[in-house]
Amino acid sequence: MILGVNVDHVATVRQARATFEPDPVMAATLAILGGADGITVHLREDRRHIQDRDLRLLREVVPVELNLEMAATEEMVNIATEVKPDLVTIVPEKRQELTTEGGLDVKGMRSWLTEVVKRLHDAGLPVSFFINPEQEDVDISKEIGADMVEIHTGNYANALGQKRVEELERVKEAVQRGLTLGLQVNAGHGLTYYNVKPVAAIKGLRGLYIGHSIISRAVLVGIEEAVRQMKALILEASKQ
Ligand code: PXP
Repeated sequence: MILGVNVDHVATVRQARATFEPDPVMAATLAILGGADGITVHLREDRRHIQDRDLRLLREVVPVELNLEMAATEEMVNIATEVKPDLVTIVPEKRQELTTEGGLDVKGMRSWLTEVVKRLHDAGLPVSFFINPEQEDVDISKEIGADMVEIHTGNYANALGQKRVEELERVKEAVQRGLTLGLQVNAGHGLTYYNVKPVAAIKGLRGLYIGHSIISRAVLVGIEEAVRQMKALILEASKQ
C-alpha cells in the first residue's frame, strides 16, 4: 500500500509570514527520503497555502507520484494539463472551509465532471475523485470515467465508539464497491498515528493520503534539533 504525503501544511506555515520558509518543496524531498511513495499538494483557488511556483518545482524534483488535488475549475484544468502531475484528484472546494469538508458532489456535477475527466484524459492524466463512502458515489464516479476514487475517511476519523465502527464499515463497503467495479481505490482525510491502522488493514486499498498528522508530528519531533541548531549559532557568535 502506498503512502502519499500532503505537504500543504508546510506551505500554510510559510504563508503565515509570507516568507520563504518552511519550503514545501524541501519538505517533500525529505518526506521522500523518509519513504513517502507520493507527494500531494492542493493548489487552491485562493492560493492560501500551495503556490503555483511550488507545484512547478515539485514537478521537477519529485521522482515519485505527484498528486495534484484541485477543484474542477477551468483554471485548474489548464494548470494540470500544463504541469502534468502523475495523478489529478478532484476535490470540492469552498472558500471558507478549514480543510476539504466533504466528498465531491458527483451526482450534481456529473456533466461538468465528465467534461473535466475527458480533458484530463486527453492530456494523458489519470483522474481520481475524492468521494464520500457512498455506494452511489462510487458507481457514478465509475460511470463518469474516473480511474480511481479516494474514499473520504473524515467521518471515520471524527467518530467515537460504536459510531466509529459504523463509519469504518461504510469505508470498507465503499472500497469493496470500487474494487468490484474495477476502480483503483485510495482513502484519506483525518488519518492519524492513532486511527490509521484499521484503514490500512482494508484489503485491496491502493494507498492512503495523509497530511496534517504527519506534519504535526514533524513539528514536534523536530523542535529539539531546531532549537539546538539556533542555540549553537547564537553561542558561537556571542563568544566573539
Ligand atoms: N485527501 C484529500 C482529498 C484531502 O483534501 C486531504 C486534505 O488536504 C487529505 C487527503 C489529507 O487529509 P489530512 O491532512 O487530514 O491528513
